[in-house]
Formats: sequence, structure tokens, C-alpha cells
Amino acid sequence: MKAQILKALKEGSEQYISGEELSNRMGVSRTAIWKYIAALREEGYDIESSPRKGYRLISSPEILSAEEIQAELSTKFFGKEIIYFDTVTSTNTIAKEIAGKDCQDGTVVIADQQTGGKGRLGRNWSSPPHTGIWMSIVLRPDILPFQAPFITILAALAVARSIKQVAQIAPKIKWPNDIILNRKKVCGILTEMSAEIERINYIVVGIGINVNMDAEDFSPEIREMATSIKMVTGQAVQRKVLVRKILENFEEIYVNANNSNLKNELMDEYRKYSLTLGSRVKVVYKNQEIKGTAVEVTDEGELIIETDDGVKQKIMSGEVSVRGIYGYV
Ligand code: BTN
Repeated sequence: MKAQILKALKEGSEQYISGEELSNRMGVSRTAIWKYIAALREEGYDIESSPRKGYRLISSPEILSAEEIQAELSTKFFGKEIIYFDTVTSTNTIAKEIAGKDCQDGTVVIADQQTGGKGRLGRNWSSPPHTGIWMSIVLRPDILPFQAPFITILAALAVARSIKQVAQIAPKIKWPNDIILNRKKVCGILTEMSAEIERINYIVVGIGINVNMDAEDFSPEIREMATSIKMVTGQAVQRKVLVRKILENFEEIYVNANNSNLKNELMDEYRKYSLTLGSRVKVVYKNQEIKGTAVEVTDEGELIIETDDGVKQKIMSGEVSVRGIYGYV
């Protein structure tokens, strides 16, 4: 509904549209229109209102273009090249295409909206316009392919730290890389890789963050499991500010992880954000379901689960359900 109102305001370009006309067109009350206008203003839309004439769009919030993001970006190579799309199928798909053509290390593909956003395990990732961060970063780390899941751990730490710094709220990380606020998912990370047996050609780290959505922006099924930063803090966040912070933190973490002392510190920080450690968990791993308590995250980012018969199992990757978090009771 909010998107439809915005469309109508944009189509009206500089002209006023009355509250009555909007309410007739949308089939909702004028009070409802007023609430949506208030929500749009909170997202950064400058909408002028006149008691007799109605509403007029003065300016739209920031776009996530290369210029906007790079204006105050203090990285060495993350985001030195940024490719922005208003609409794209999936930033991961584009990032893989350009990575195959030798793009620069740290190149970012970012979009205001994805029409075919991809989640883990072949799921879809809802990526509506104006409200989220949908971006993919191309990396060429000098590690072995089996170590690639560790990059995802580092990305999750970068996102958690950045949300804490920008929105002043400390999220949790559900191992390996879901970011959680109030027991619901606010960010997912999809890492894809092209590799030979002993060499990684490239890794694409796809980060999706629900930033300024309201509850009604999520479909009823997603609403059960997902939240946004704004829904939790009550404050809209400037997406470009959060994007910059993530690129800066991720670059620092990615570089420091090559130093063993700094890597241990980073993993300690990761553990502090962990929602999984100490919780009852269920994991499907190699076609087997393991239930137990998550007792450790190693410095390599693996999860150690102690099963009820006291056996410790090391998990490198996989889908882990944490008791009490979306659906696992
Ligand atoms: C998950 O299932 O938790 C991972 C979701 C990852 C979504 C992001 S949005 C940017 C990038 N492009 C995609 O198509 N997916 C990732």
C-alpha cells in the first residue's frame, strides 16, 4: 500500500494529490493514507502537505548509488568499485557474472530492489524496494575452498557490529550467519563460490538486510520469522550509512583475520554475539539429524555440539535450528 501511494505521488510529479483522491484510488480511509504518508516521511521521503491541496512529493530518500556510498567511505579496496541497480534479479547473480570476468577484489553489486532474491538452500529472499540493503561483495581470498565458510562467519560479525554501531542495538548471530533481533531474522547471508580443488577463483558474499520495513511490508508467512531494524528500534536508518559501515567493518575484519592474534579476538567478539552458544540446537548434517547443546564455536568458525549421550560433534556448515527461534520449539 505504501508503495502504491509512493507511486501515485511520483506519477503526480510536482502536483498535489488530495487525500480524498488517494483514499478513493487505494480504497482505504484518509486516516490510513495519512499514516502511510507519515511512514514514508520516516523513511526519508520529503512530502509536503497542504490542508486544501493534499500531498506533494518534494524529494526521495537517498539512493544507494556508487557516488552516494563512496562519498564518505574510508576503505582501501571494499567498495572501490560499486555497481548499482534500481532493480535487478539478484545481486549475487550479477556479482558472479562480473567476478568471472576478472572484476576488482572488493567490488560491490547493490540494488534497491531484487525481483529474484536468493536465500540459502534454494529459498527465495524477499527484497522489496526502498527499504532494505541487498548487496553482494566479490572477494578473492587466498585460502583453500574448504575454509570458505569462515568468510561467511566474518561477514556475519561485520554486519552485527555495524548494526550495533549504527542503530545502537545489539543483534545476535545464529550460527553461522543469520542476524537476529528480538528472536526474528533481520539479515541473511548467502555465500557462493567458484573454485578448483586447491584454489578459490572467487567468493560472492550476498548480504540481505531488512532495514526500514514495517510489519505490513512482509507477507504473513515471512512476518512470523522476519523483522527489520526499524520495527525493533522504532527509528528508520539511512541505508547508505549502514552500507558504508558494513564495508568498513568487513574490510577490517577480513584483513585482520589473517593475523592469528587478531583472529582470536575477532572470534571472541563473534562469540559474544552468538545466540547459538549454550542453546539447545537441532542440525541436519550429512542426512542425519543431530540434537544437543551448542557448546563451542572454534577459532575456525566451526560449531561444536554436545549430544545428549555426551558425544561432541563438529559442524562445518549446515542449517541449525535453535530452540525458541522461529519454529523450533
Ligand atoms: C538466507 O537465506 O538467509 C540468505 C539470504 C541472502 C540474501 C541476499 S540479498 C543480496 C544477495 N542477493 C541475493 O539474491 N541473495 C543475497
